[in-house]
Amino acid sequence: MCGITGIVTQNSDNIGELLVRCSSKLTYRGYDSVGVAAVRNGAVDLRKDVGTIEEVNELLGLSSMKGDRGIAQLRWATYGAPTKMNAQPHFGCEEVFYGAHNGNLHNYVEYKKELIETGHIVRSENDGELCVHAVDKYYEQTGDMFEAVRLSIQDLKGAFAYAVGRADEQEIYAVKMGSSLVAGVADNATIVSSDLPSVLPLTNNVIYLADGEMLVLTPHDVKVYRIEDGKQLERVPQISYVDARAAEKGGYPHFMLKEINEQPKVAQDVLGILESSKNEEWLKLIENASRHYLVACGSSYNASIVGTYYFNRLAGIPMLHAIGGQFQPMYGTTMDEDSLSILVSQSGETKDILNVLNLINAKHYGKTLGVLNVIGSTLMFQADSHIPMACGYEVSVPATKTYFSQSIIFAYLAAKLGERNGHIDSSEAKIFINQLRNDLPSLTQTTIDRTGILAKNLARTMMDVKDLYCLGYGFTDGVAREGALKIKEICYNHCEGMYSSEFKHGPLSIVTKNYPVIFTTTTEDSWMVINHINEVKARHGRTIVVGEFEKTLEPYVANKHDYLEVPKSDVLINPLLDVIPLQLLSYFLSVDIGINPDLPRNLSKTLTVD
Ligand code: F6R
Repeated sequence: MCGITGIVTQNSDNIGELLVRCSSKLTYRGYDSVGVAAVRNGAVDLRKDVGTIEEVNELLGLSSMKGDRGIAQLRWATYGAPTKMNAQPHFGCEEVFYGAHNGNLHNYVEYKKELIETGHIVRSENDGELCVHAVDKYYEQTGDMFEAVRLSIQDLKGAFAYAVGRADEQEIYAVKMGSSLVAGVADNATIVSSDLPSVLPLTNNVIYLADGEMLVLTPHDVKVYRIEDGKQLERVPQISYVDARAAEKGGYPHFMLKEINEQPKVAQDVLGILESSKNEEWLKLIENASRHYLVACGSSYNASIVGTYYFNRLAGIPMLHAIGGQFQPMYGTTMDEDSLSILVSQSGETKDILNVLNLINAKHYGKTLGVLNVIGSTLMFQADSHIPMACGYEVSVPATKTYFSQSIIFAYLAAKLGERNGHIDSSEAKIFINQLRNDLPSLTQTTIDRTGILAKNLARTMMDVKDLYCLGYGFTDGVAREGALKIKEICYNHCEGMYSSEFKHGPLSIVTKNYPVIFTTTTEDSWMVINHINEVKARHGRTIVVGEFEKTLEPYVANKHDYLEVPKSDVLINPLLDVIPLQLLSYFLSVDIGINPDLPRNLSKTLTVD
C-alpha cells in the first residue's frame, strides 16, 4: 500500500515530469490520492488531491512542476479518509520540511497528541505527517538533518518507510523500517522508491535496503547508513535485468488481460526455474522437516489450498495451511525447530506474512521457504531459501499469473517429492512432470483461446447479478475460492467461494429461481459434483460449470456459455486450467459493468499494513 518516490537531480529543472513518469509505475500500490512536493530555489511547491495520478496530474499540472528535487506519493488510505488534506506529501510545522511515508505508525494517536502538546501544528489525520514532524522536532534540537532523520526513528513505532527533505538542503533522506525501499543511481540523478518499477524508467543501477537502514540521496550518489549508530555501510549498486517494458500494457486494454495472456509463458518459465539445480535445496528443505505449514493471504492463500491437495495426493505430506493472520493463533504453539513454513507471497512484502516470518525467526520455529515474485523483497532476503515465481511484473491489482505460477510450483514439488519418497509410482510422477513441462504451456493457451469467448458471452448475461456462489470439490476447492475472490474484487459482487459439499449445510437456502451457482470440477470428481449441482437445480437455480467437457454434466447447463469448457487433459492438470475461465469471466464482467479491473476501489496490490 502507498508508493513513495524521491528524486534528486543535478542540472535539470523538470522534477515534476520525472516524478510523475516514475511514480506512475506504482499506481498498483495506491490510487486514492496523489501528491508531489517539488523544490526550486529553496522553496517547496506542494500539490496534492484525491484521485489517480492521471487525474491529479491533469487537475494540478504535476508534470509541469519545476525544481531539481522532490517527493511524490500515491496513497492507499489507512489512517485518515482519502481527502486532499490527508493526501501526501506533508509539510512539517512550516513549509520547510516536506515528506511522505508508506506503512503505518502504531503510536499515531499518542504521538500526535504529544506533538500537538509541544506546539507542533499537525494538519491532517494521516500518520505520514507525523514522520515529517518527527524530523522537524529533532532538527530543532540538533540543527542537523542527518541526525534529525536518524533520531526520528526512536519516536515512530510501526512498519514504515519514509522520504523527507528540507527546502534549503539539496539532499533527500529516506529510512526503511519494515516497508520496502529501493534506490537507484543514474547519470546526474538519484532516486528512492517503494518499488523497483518506478526506479527503472530512470536507471537499472539499483541498491536494495534492509530494515534499520537510511539513505542520503545527492544528485551524484546514494549513501547508505545504519540508523542505530549512523555508521556508513558499503553498498554497490547492482544491475537489475528486469525489463522496464514489462510494466507497459503492450497493446492490451488492461494489465489484467495482458497478465492472463502471459500465463502460457509463465508456465514455461516457472517450470524452467523448478528444473534448475536449485530444486535440490527446496526439496531437501521439505524432506528434512517433520511438520509443514503453508502460509499466505488472498489469492496466494487460494493457490496454497490447491497446493495442499497436491502435497497430499502426490507426496503424502500433510500441509497445514493458514491465512497469514491466522497462523500464530492457529499453529503458534505447535511449531518447533524441525518445522518448515512455506510463506507464499507475490510481493514478498505483505505485512501479515512478514509478521509470521518474524515470529518464526524470533522463536526459532524451524526453517522458512519463500515462494515469491518480487526479487529484492523482504521475504526474499529473510527466508532461508526462496522459489521465484518467474512471472515478471504483475501490475494489475487482481493476481492472475502469480496465482497460476504458485499452483504450478506446488504441483511440481509434490510430484518430485512423491517420486523420491515413493508415495507415488516413479513412472506416474515422471509422466505428470513431463505433462507439466511439455503440455501445460500449450494447454494454457488453448484454455485462454477456448474459454475467452465463452466467458465474454457469459459475462453479458450476468450484468444484473449481484450475488452468487462459486463452488469447488477436492482439487478445485482453492480454484473456486480464487474465482469468487476475483468476482468480488473487480466486479464488486458478493460471490462466496466454498466447498461444494458444504453448500447444502446452510447456504442452499439462498437459492431461488435462476440464482447463479458456479461449479468447478475435475473429471475425477464430477460424479460427486453432480449431486451438488442437482441440489441447486432442484430449487430452480442456474448452474454454471467450469471443467473439462463431460456428457454427464451437459444436461445441467441451459446455454453453451454456461459451460466454461477447458481442454481435455490429465485429471491433475485440470485444477491448474480451471481457474483461467474464472479469471476471464471476472475480467469481462468487470469491464462490462464499467469498472477498471486493474484498479478496483479500496484495494492496493501490496499490503504492508496489519
Ligand atoms: C487478489 C490479490 C490479493 C493478494 C494478497 C496477498 O487478487 O491479489 O488477495 O493475493 O493481498 O498478496 P501477496 O501475494 O503479495 O502476499
